Amino acid sequence: MIPEGSLLAAHDLRKTYGSTPALDGASFSVHPGEVVAVMGPSGSGKSTLLHCLAGIITPDSGTITYAGRELSAMSDAERSALRRSEFGFVFQFGQLVPELTCVENVALPLRLNGVRRKAAERTALEWMERLEVDDLGSKRPGEVSGGQGQRVAVARALAGSPKVIFADEPTGALDSLNGERVMELLTEAARSANVAVVLVTHEARVAAYSDRDVTVRDGRARDLEHSA
Ligand SMILES: Nc1ncnc2c1ncn2[C@@H]1O[C@H](COP(=O)(O)OP(=O)(O)OP(=O)(O)O)[C@@H](O)[C@H]1O
Ligand SMILES: [Mg+2]
Repeated sequence: MIPEGSLLAAHDLRKTYGSTPALDGASFSVHPGEVVAVMGPSGSGKSTLLHCLAGIITPDSGTITYAGRELSAMSDAERSALRRSEFGFVFQFGQLVPELTCVENVALPLRLNGVRRKAAERTALEWMERLEVDDLGSKRPGEVSGGQGQRVAVARALAGSPKVIFADEPTGALDSLNGERVMELLTEAARSANVAVVLVTHEARVAAYSDRDVTVRDGRARDLEHSA
């Protein structure tokens, strides 16, 4: 039921909002260090699948296993701790904290995990350098461009040394040049740190950066590489 060697796996997920089925028997898995693109039309259930995998919402039925542990068997506090220490997130509009500088934003996951400010900001700057935004450290998110903001958001997702990054349309608000640079840097950094990436996207040129594509249709996920 859980594919061998997978880090995160979902089996037969179902989730209904009122009478709308958002997930209708979706299965999914990702290996350590693997970049998987989740594609499919609007409303097909991609974000719902990502939110279930990340333990943000609970499916009505089905199982999700992370590193051998079932998410449904954990308490809310355990799931929160898991999200904080093992997962990183990048969303369409960055979701940076506007009151904090860019370096403080990137350092945030480390600070939440108890790392002292100086050490956290040192690590944050190293990631910002890799994402080519280290010169923006003292600026606030409102003072940087969309592409720069997304690279800061990617640096933040990586700074806490996560095992999985969840990215929902991370380039959706960017032009194609900026989008490709963000994808290049995100996938390069993730692969070198052996971080798995679950990447939701509409765009084939974004999915081209993945190792494997999964298509979601009507709440069902279909693995393009491993199914006939
Ligand atoms: N919080 C919610 N309340 C009610 N219905 C919802 C909610 N979230 C999602 N849905 C419905 O569930 C279905 C799947 O939504 P989901 O957001 O997962 O789609 P998606 O594939 O991410 O779409 P998009 O590409 O537009 O982001 C849709 O029919 C949507 O309207
Ligand atoms: Mg969505």
